[in-house]
Amino acid sequence: MDFRRIDELPPYVFTEVNDLKLAARRAGDDVIDLGFGNPDIASPGFVVDKLNEASRNPKNHRYSSSRGIPNLRKAVADRYRRRFDVELDHETQVITTIGAKEGLSHLLWALVQPGDVALVPDPSYPIHIYAPALAGAEIRRVPVTDDDYFAHLEKAFTDSWPRPRVIITSFPHNPTTTCVDLEFFERLVAFAKDRDVFLVHDFAYADISFDGYQPPSLLQVPGASEVGVELYTLTKGHSMAGWRVGFVVGNAEMVGALAKLKSYLDYGTFQPIQIASIVALNEGDDHVADVNATYLRRRDALCDGLARAGWEFPKPKGTMFVWAPIPEQFAHMKSLEFAKFLLAEAKVAVSPGVGFGRTGEGFVRFALVENDHRIRQAVRGIRALLEPD
Ligand SMILES: Cc1ncc(COP(=O)(O)O)c(C=O)c1O
Repeated sequence: MDFRRIDELPPYVFTEVNDLKLAARRAGDDVIDLGFGNPDIASPGFVVDKLNEASRNPKNHRYSSSRGIPNLRKAVADRYRRRFDVELDHETQVITTIGAKEGLSHLLWALVQPGDVALVPDPSYPIHIYAPALAGAEIRRVPVTDDDYFAHLEKAFTDSWPRPRVIITSFPHNPTTTCVDLEFFERLVAFAKDRDVFLVHDFAYADISFDGYQPPSLLQVPGASEVGVELYTLTKGHSMAGWRVGFVVGNAEMVGALAKLKSYLDYGTFQPIQIASIVALNEGDDHVADVNATYLRRRDALCDGLARAGWEFPKPKGTMFVWAPIPEQFAHMKSLEFAKFLLAEAKVAVSPGVGFGRTGEGFVRFALVENDHRIRQAVRGIRALLEPD
């Protein structure tokens, strides 16, 4: 059978390592899985309690609102005010989505069509490429691997015809963990305004940062809402991955376009989940702090342990990932080969950098989704490869 839109999708990049991991586990190996970025930290107990309570009320069993209930949108606007000093009109500038991933996908359906061009980060979290691609747009990649982002952006923009309609960014960045400051967004907003292009900023790691670094919101730039939107999600900071609660916030016309599209597609998230999410947003700051402390401990256990074994590189200041250049003694290996080697010899699953795009070659990504003890076990396994007797 022929499924034209889907058949053009390449196999999901990480399948090969994942299949090997499953085979190793079936063979009885204790594999430490730092591959897939699937958060392992439990959602806050008081949020689960609220879900239980709200789910017993039959009024909450009906269709909800596809935009999200007003009090949830208000809770996001309140969080943006508290955290970023950004004012959002919850009626026009906020919409609830089924996590950031769905939000991005349908937003791009509203923004582009065949014949349009989208600029995306390289390397890239896959949906940043496939959301515009599935909507029919052409993709141009903008490297985020060095300090010359704006030079790359300018070149990608002027080399593209027709002129790009949308720029997708995401900082703190998955997989490279690149972080930016507010000045970066000031330049980006000025760039977008000058060239009349939409900005879509995936802010999935808004709430995961270390060493005093506070990720800025795109919307902190005065006038950013004239050209762009941001995706915010409860997945990482609030450790609510499975709940699928995200938001698109900012430009009212873009939010309105997505709301119109979604009104055809869905009736909104199960209302008890939305009600519990209000509590998470309003009362979850301590939980977010605990989540940060947990990822910080894991980051340090991994990076310090690898550094002691001679595999040294800068520690990330944001995200729940560690992006590591392949160590010198294995630099002859490509990232997929090195990831398979780590799995076979150290029983540690990681994501090969090439899976995120060509500029990811030469790196592997560790997701900090196992506990400190398991991460130390992973370090011991890797150290034995780096320091053979
Ligand atoms: C950059 C980025 N955006 C979005 C997501 C997914 O977010 P959500 O669970 O809200 O769809 C992830 C998850 O790994 C991510 O890394």
